[in-house]
Amino acid sequence: MSLRDPRARTYHGRADLMILVMLSLEHDLVLDKYLLFTPGPVNVAESLRSAICKEDICHREPDFDDLLGSIEHKLLSLFQIRNRARYRAVVITGSGTAANEAIVSSVVGRGAILILSNGEFGARLHKTSLIHNKQTHLIEVPWGAPFDLPQIAAYLVAHDIDVVAMVHHETCSGMLNPLAQIGAMAKANGALFVVVDGVSSVGAEVIDMEACHIAFVSSSSSKAIGSYPGLSFVVGRKKQFKRLKRHAAKTTYLNLATFYEFLKTRGQTPNTPAIPLFFALEQALTNILREGVIKRYARIKARADLLRVGMRRLNLEFLIKEEDMCSILTTVRVPPSVSVRALRARLRERSIIIYEGKGCFSGKVFQVGNIGELSDYDIRYFLAALKDVLLLLQAEAAELVAPVRPKGASLVRLPAPQNTRAKVVS
Ligand SMILES: Cc1ncc(COP(=O)(O)O)c(C=O)c1O
Repeated sequence: MSLRDPRARTYHGRADLMILVMLSLEHDLVLDKYLLFTPGPVNVAESLRSAICKEDICHREPDFDDLLGSIEHKLLSLFQIRNRARYRAVVITGSGTAANEAIVSSVVGRGAILILSNGEFGARLHKTSLIHNKQTHLIEVPWGAPFDLPQIAAYLVAHDIDVVAMVHHETCSGMLNPLAQIGAMAKANGALFVVVDGVSSVGAEVIDMEACHIAFVSSSSSKAIGSYPGLSFVVGRKKQFKRLKRHAAKTTYLNLATFYEFLKTRGQTPNTPAIPLFFALEQALTNILREGVIKRYARIKARADLLRVGMRRLNLEFLIKEEDMCSILTTVRVPPSVSVRALRARLRERSIIIYEGKGCFSGKVFQVGNIGELSDYDIRYFLAALKDVLLLLQAEAAELVAPVRPKGASLVRLPAPQNTRAKVVS
């Protein structure tokens, strides 16, 4: 764009904004992939791309038993379980919701379950439980608010609750909920503590199942674990897995007792598994363990910190306090005069994908994930693009420049940095 361009002439003498607008219109190298700054799905490691294309095997043959055995072994290592003989892990073909529903429908029987909810995914657990469990109790606080622990303690004393279930990382706000305190309360009141939903925290946050008295945790392949979508898993205490057969089945496909029986007796899954995804999951777990669980968690947290420092420098405000946040995601308040839809569209033009808020957060926040194969260069690129786009949108809103029509989802042209994984298409 030249200074003669009519879009430039609508600018009223602000040189800083002018330069940004011109730069934003003049990117001319192409990234050959989207950068997924989301809480999942994520950009996967190259090693997973080859793993998913491994040989064709049959799930009723020893090859699959070995594959599943290796995944289970590695899942127990991921959770850093000290007394490994007391825990087992089943893998389900289905996204995170499948593992959540498997737990909610399999562990309660005719008993009473208390769901703790402070967001969208807590609400989903409640909805799922209402389908399967007649005695479903709910303690609900507003989305993005921390739980009131004395309220939960009092509720457990006053009611006959068999199972307490909650979401570990409430992805809608980015809040990490406290496991140790709630686990201790459940134990003190003789209830089984189930962190039904570790879908967006497992692989990035320490979950000490033993210390927190957790009976079962669910998660999925496609978030902090770093693999493709389509698989989920449940890690649980063997004693509790064994007890599941006492309950009448409430579903066929997602009955955890059946998964456990097949695992125990055959080392297999009850139904046909998505075998290529199992190969990829196995590779993702190998990658995590090779790096070291704690080292990896520290790396993810450092990446979140880098993003957060950069976004604070842009005067952006976060939805919740940083000490309450999970390390995989930052939920950011949308600045005045900026539309989230336009922000996402403009970032998409630059090959960057972010999330927008849902439910009561719709239009008010956007979410930036930092898991998967994102480099420090990608983070810096994101921050520069975000600054560029926010200035552009604010300038447009103030009618300092004429709106630029979004180009759609085409991949944006960028200068190729040294040592970046983002390949440049010639
Ligand atoms: C905390 C949490 N639970 C459950 C889900 C649902 O997982 P899926 O879409 O893989 O079924 C999500 C998805 O974002 C999530 O973040």
